[in-house]
Amino acid sequence: SVDNNIRPSTLAEYIGQPVVREQMEVFIEAARRRNEALDHTLIFGPPGLGKTTLANIIAREMGGNLRSTSGPVLERAGDLAAMLTNLEEGDVLFIDEIHRLSPVIEEILYPAMEDFQLDIMIGEGPAARSIKLDLPPFTLVAATTRAGLLTSPLRDRFGIVQRLEFYNIEDLTTIVSRSARLMNVVMTPEGAVEVARRSRGTPRIANRLLRRVRDYAQVKSNGEVTGEIADSALDMLAVDRRGLDHLDRRYIEMVHARFDNGPAGVEAIAAAMAEDRGTLEDVIEPYLIQQGYVLRTARGRVLTQMAIDQL
Ligand code: ADE
Repeated sequence: SVDNNIRPSTLAEYIGQPVVREQMEVFIEAARRRNEALDHTLIFGPPGLGKTTLANIIAREMGGNLRSTSGPVLERAGDLAAMLTNLEEGDVLFIDEIHRLSPVIEEILYPAMEDFQLDIMIGEGPAARSIKLDLPPFTLVAATTRAGLLTSPLRDRFGIVQRLEFYNIEDLTTIVSRSARLMNVVMTPEGAVEVARRSRGTPRIANRLLRRVRDYAQVKSNGEVTGEIADSALDMLAVDRRGLDHLDRRYIEMVHARFDNGPAGVEAIAAAMAEDRGTLEDVIEPYLIQQGYVLRTARGRVLTQMAIDQL
C-alpha cells in the first residue's frame, strides 16, 4: 500500500490502542523469553484501524518472517498447504478476512494451529492418500472485521484475541503529525487536529486526507498545512466537520426519511441504500454506533436525538 513507508514497524511506534499495546508487549516479551512462537492471535475491528499493521509489527517483534494471504484467496487445500510448508520456525502467517475461509480450508487449519501438523488428502479415488507433515512452530495472526462471523471451533483456537477500537482525536492527531513529519509536510498543530477530527476515528482515512490536504496547501498556498488550510481543503473534499462521510450521511438521512427514525431492520436499510448488508454492518454502523448517532435495538436500528439534530 501507499502507506507502507509511514506505517509503524514496532510496538513502541504504534500510537493509540493502549489496551492492545500493553497486552501485546507482555505476550510478545514472554514468548521471546521462553523462545517460543507467540500464541495464535485474532485481531478484529472495523477497516482501517491497523490490523495488518499490527500483524507486521508482531512478526517484526518476534523476529520472524511475515507470510500474508487472505480468506478468499485460499480456495483449495493445496493453497494453504503451500503457505504452511513454506513457514520457518517463528514465522507469522497472516490471514486477512479470516471469516471468508472455506470450511475445507478451516479443517486443515485446526491441526496446523493446535499441533503444528499438516494433515491433507492428496489425489482422488483408490489412489488417494492422507499425508501428515510436521510444521515448524509458527504464529497464525488472523484479521476480521467481525469476530462474530467466525465459527466457534476456529475462534476457540486463538490464544490471544484483540479488538481494535476507533481512535480518539488526540491519538489521531499524533498519528497525523507523525505521518506529516515522515512525508516532509510542514503542518501546524491546528492543521493536524483538523485532519484528525474529520477522519472518522480511522488512521487509514487520516493518512489519506493528509495527502489530499498537502496537495491543497501546495497549490492554493505555500505548502504549509495550517488549521485554516486543512479546513478549506476538507470542505472542498466534502468531508464534514463531525467526520461523517457520504455513506454515513446517507444512512442517517435514509433511516430518517424512509423509516421515520427507526426502528428499521438492517436488511431494509441496506436495500433502501442499494448497499450490501455487510458494508452497513462492517463499515458504516460501527462508527455511527460508537459516536452515538445510532442504536442497535432488538427491533432494529434507531436514530438517536443527536443524529436527528444533525439533519
Ligand atoms: N499509522 C496508522 N496507524 C498507526 C498507529 N496506530 N500508530 C502509528 N502510526 C499509525
